[in-house]
Amino acid sequence: MESFVVSARKYRPLGFDEVVGQEHITTTLKNAIDNNKLAQALLFCGPRGVGKTTCARIVARMINGFEEKAEVNSLNIFELDAASNNSVEDIRNLIDQVRYPPQFGRFKVYIIDEVHMLSNAAFNAFLKTLEEPPSYAIFILATTEKHKVIPTILSRCQIFDFNRIQVSDITKQLQKIAKREGIVAEEEALHLIAQKADGALRDGLSIFDLMVTFSTGEKVTFKDVLNNLHILDYDYYFKIVDGLLAENPTQPLLLLDEILRKGFDGHNFIVGLSEHLRNLLVSQDTRTIQLMDVPDSIKKQYAAQAQASPPSLLLSWLNIANQCDIHYKGSKNQRLSVELALMKMANVNAVFKSNGTALAQEAVKKKLN
Ligand SMILES: Nc1ncnc2c1ncn2[C@@H]1O[C@H](COP(=O)(O)OP(=O)(O)OP(=O)(O)O)[C@@H](O)[C@H]1O
Ligand SMILES: [Mg+2]
Repeated sequence: MESFVVSARKYRPLGFDEVVGQEHITTTLKNAIDNNKLAQALLFCGPRGVGKTTCARIVARMINGFEEKAEVNSLNIFELDAASNNSVEDIRNLIDQVRYPPQFGRFKVYIIDEVHMLSNAAFNAFLKTLEEPPSYAIFILATTEKHKVIPTILSRCQIFDFNRIQVSDITKQLQKIAKREGIVAEEEALHLIAQKADGALRDGLSIFDLMVTFSTGEKVTFKDVLNNLHILDYDYYFKIVDGLLAENPTQPLLLLDEILRKGFDGHNFIVGLSEHLRNLLVSQDTRTIQLMDVPDSIKKQYAAQAQASPPSLLLSWLNIANQCDIHYKGSKNQRLSVELALMKMANVNAVFKSNGTALAQEAVKKKLN
């Protein structure tokens, strides 16, 4: 049997041009290297799985002029995982190594991953080396938690802040990889995976691998991904809004029941409904449609429903959903609070009318007094 390499490793970029969604960083680094202006201490910060270790390795390879793009190709790159090697001893070992100039290439590059995990003593032992490194040494520190890195280290490093990766960029990357692997995948399915990845490309790739394993016949479909990731189908929200537009709570209440019976959480449902209403609001204008993070086919569906939904009504619904969201945790009967919200939405016109009359009556009363 062929051994399986997870996509996150198989598709680790080997050059800056392959790094997705971090152009501000890759351009700066490339220019600095081309002009021989690279600082000796760099700090890569940002969320997990967005390319920090990847870029550190690319820098290491580039400054030594190793053109061939082979993975781990040099004695000049030293990686220390500070999460598991966080003692003073570990840092002392590292400092000892730094003393010797490289035998090949021009630079020795030390990548210290998860640097926020170093103990205080280790941090302090490291400070002096970081401040005055030998000319051939470059330190690249990486961390997901910049606030845990002591200021004395921060001030000695050139800092690069990595972005979360946009849903559209993750989708594109997944499309590329699916194509190379000969896997047929629906665009909506990849989009859903990208949304679930929550900004981390590595997570996107891992979920993708999982979905490929689950899928039958080398095809990743929207329906399969929904089921396997336990995500609520957009369709539910479209149907619920249809019911609300008809000022009839029956269908929405029955759908809510179905959703809850499938094991979805009421709070997530109401938050999802708010998101849906927000999407309908931004779909009112062709210029704001792009603010929506959904596949193109679904954008069309939004545009159609938005046409049927007056913005003032959407705003009232959004208000009701928001109130439900805020009070959900404190509610004794959470199911009822969601049901009540749906009923209010279906009857919003009637509710406003009666409120309006009450207000008018109050005003008349005040005038009479
Ligand atoms: N910006 C990106 N462009 C292309 N691929 C990426 C990018 N970010 C992450 N990946 C993919 O995810 C894998 C893991 O990325 P990497 O190890 O660089 O993440 P990291 O930022 O160091 O994460 P962590 O904080 O968890 O260490 C890579 O091998 C690559 O397949
Ligand atoms: Mg890393």
